[in-house]
Amino acid sequence: MSLGFIGLGTMGLPMALNLARAGTDLVVWNRSPHRAEPFAAVAATPDEVLARADVVILMLADEAAIDEVLGERELGGRTIVHMGTTSPAYSRGLEAAVVARGGAYVEAPVSGSRRPAEAGELVAMLAGDPVVVARVRPLLAPMCREMFEFVDDARVSWGPRESACRTTSWAMGSGRSIVIEDGRSEAP
Ligand SMILES: NC(=O)c1ccc[n+]([C@@H]2O[C@H](COP(=O)([O-])OP(=O)(O)OC[C@H]3O[C@@H](n4cnc5c(N)ncnc54)[C@H](OP(=O)(O)O)[C@@H]3O)[C@@H](O)[C@H]2O)c1
Repeated sequence: MSLGFIGLGTMGLPMALNLARAGTDLVVWNRSPHRAEPFAAVAATPDEVLARADVVILMLADEAAIDEVLGERELGGRTIVHMGTTSPAYSRGLEAAVVARGGAYVEAPVSGSRRPAEAGELVAMLAGDPVVVARVRPLLAPMCREMFEFVDDARVSWGPRESACRTTSWAMGSGRSIVIEDGRSEAP
């Protein structure tokens, strides 16, 4: 499965480098081209990444950057993995837009900063359709020390549709439990 990576900033560059070092079939794009110099396969446009890769990771600054990069294009057969941090409302809209355009969507925000990103020791929180999450998870392994999957749970039925980072904060703050990965309940 080929992987695309868009957004080679403070976090994205070391994350993509770890993917490349692990031998991933990778094509990258960054708005400022010099940051893509270390990579063997560099696309000229985001469209080219989407044409060449089955799964495309976005590690972009903010919501405006994601909107600009994705535009209104069709995403048939592509899986978008949003690894940046955005508001829950935006994330819900992004998922709906990706699915409406024929794509699949996983949200995988990370905990950690530049150094853990360089060391491949990020902690990712995966949310979305469990079938798609299972397909994407092994691809993210070279960037992560740990990955948690947020699954549907009657008590927090909207959980997988929110930014998992924010879900965690909400659950901690509200005293509610969340269910992760293997069904364990994490009660704050
Ligand atoms: N930094 C952290 O410690 C940390 C930790 C966890 C999560 N995050 C989250 O991860 C995401 C990325 O963070 P970062 O620190 O890597 O940010 P960053 O260093 O500012 O990099 C942002 C990336 O977005 C690109 N970008 C910005 N506006 C764009 C636009 N309009 N069109 C196309 N590309 C655009 C930048 O391209 P250029 O190179 O051309 O500017 C760059 O590749 C954010 O959502 C952040 O909240 C950050």
